[in-house]
Amino acid sequence: MRTQVAIIGAGPSGLLLGQLLHKAGIDAIIVERQSGDYVLGRIRAGVLEQVTTDLLDEAGVGQRMHREGLVHGGFDMLFKGERHRIDLHRLTGGKNVMVYGQTEVTHDLMDARQAAGLTTIYEASQVSVHDFESAKPRVRYEKDGQTHEIECDFIAGCDGFHGVCRASVPKRAITEFEKIYPFGWLGMLSDTPPVHHELIYANSTRGFALCSQRSHTRSRYYLQVPMTDTVENWSDAAFWDELRLRLDPAAREQLVTGPALEKSIAPLRSFVAEPMRFGQMFLAGDAAHIVPPTGAKGLNLAATDVKYLSSAFIEHYQDKSDAGIDHYSARCLRRIWRAERFSWWFTGLMHNFPENGPIGQKLQEAELDYIVNSEVGARSVAENYVGLPLDFGE
Ligand code: APR
Ligand code: PHB
Repeated sequence: MRTQVAIIGAGPSGLLLGQLLHKAGIDAIIVERQSGDYVLGRIRAGVLEQVTTDLLDEAGVGQRMHREGLVHGGFDMLFKGERHRIDLHRLTGGKNVMVYGQTEVTHDLMDARQAAGLTTIYEASQVSVHDFESAKPRVRYEKDGQTHEIECDFIAGCDGFHGVCRASVPKRAITEFEKIYPFGWLGMLSDTPPVHHELIYANSTRGFALCSQRSHTRSRYYLQVPMTDTVENWSDAAFWDELRLRLDPAAREQLVTGPALEKSIAPLRSFVAEPMRFGQMFLAGDAAHIVPPTGAKGLNLAATDVKYLSSAFIEHYQDKSDAGIDHYSARCLRRIWRAERFSWWFTGLMHNFPENGPIGQKLQEAELDYIVNSEVGARSVAENYVGLPLDFGE
């Protein structure tokens, strides 16, 4: 088989890249280790920056998002038992965010790919990448007991944190920066109306809580828990009881409980791999970086990597210029580090760190007091939350 761009991974990064390349008439094949149903079964964050919604429109997959997604012009910060609204719309001169689950984004991208008759090889095993330092890279995989090989011009490593692409780079050619947080997020999805029409980020002495949503009838809640906890320890009733204890009296009153559709615990990590280009192979999305979920930057960063990468490939094929390719890694990394900083800072502000003792809690509360009562403080949070423009720093 031969293609122009071999994409490894059919998560949101790989699928969006495939779609943007298809629109530009560039040939791509996606190779995915799992089945399509498995990919759709993963529940992840659900807040899209405007840059991301614009990109989904550009890829031609924004219709359902505009119909079913919820536009939010602000969110609440809760601390010392009181809620304070961050007015994103006013503080950023008119920007909003879109609440629409990543699972739905993936679904829309899969449907568009299928409708266009494009090739995705699901359930490929033993995927390996070869000769990416040469002009003739190759991808090999096994499917139904047979070995297959794809010859290509470029390999796009969109294969997530545990993927094969980054792992195939010689150690001396890559630098990894990592911080693992001493707690996780226990997430619960339920068919109950959200406790509030916007999101609530809660700092409490019992630990962080987040009230999010997927629709007017479906809620997504999170609790900070020790990584030693297991989902089996947390009955639905225990989850709701603990969430109530971390909320303010009005929200506690409003909270509608019900059975969990899904419960899972996710670790929190900050991670960046530098650079993101190795000859003819490029990393994008979770393959190159992870942010803790506080602020929901993961998918948004992945989407902007993919935008830069698709533009670079388009420049290469259409304009015969490699400027975009040469600039790709530095261009992405500047934006990534800005989002890494914000996600790390927001995580530190909102979570309980037992090792910091009572003074840690007092200092967080003082900082939150500053943020919600200072125009400059609130604007700084809002500006980062809605995300940087695509041409940031250029
Ligand atoms: N071969 C083929 N596919 C692979 C391999 C491999 N060796 N390893 C991993 N994959 C696939 C995974 O099964 C997965 O479907 O690559 C895909 C990577 O998808 P994601 O992990 O979702 O990563 P990405 O597409 O970059 O998505 C960006 O934004 O909100 C965040 O973390 C969240 O997933 C989200 C990310
Ligand atoms: C979610 O809805 O899953 C979500 C929302 C906001 C976050 C993280 C996760 O910061």
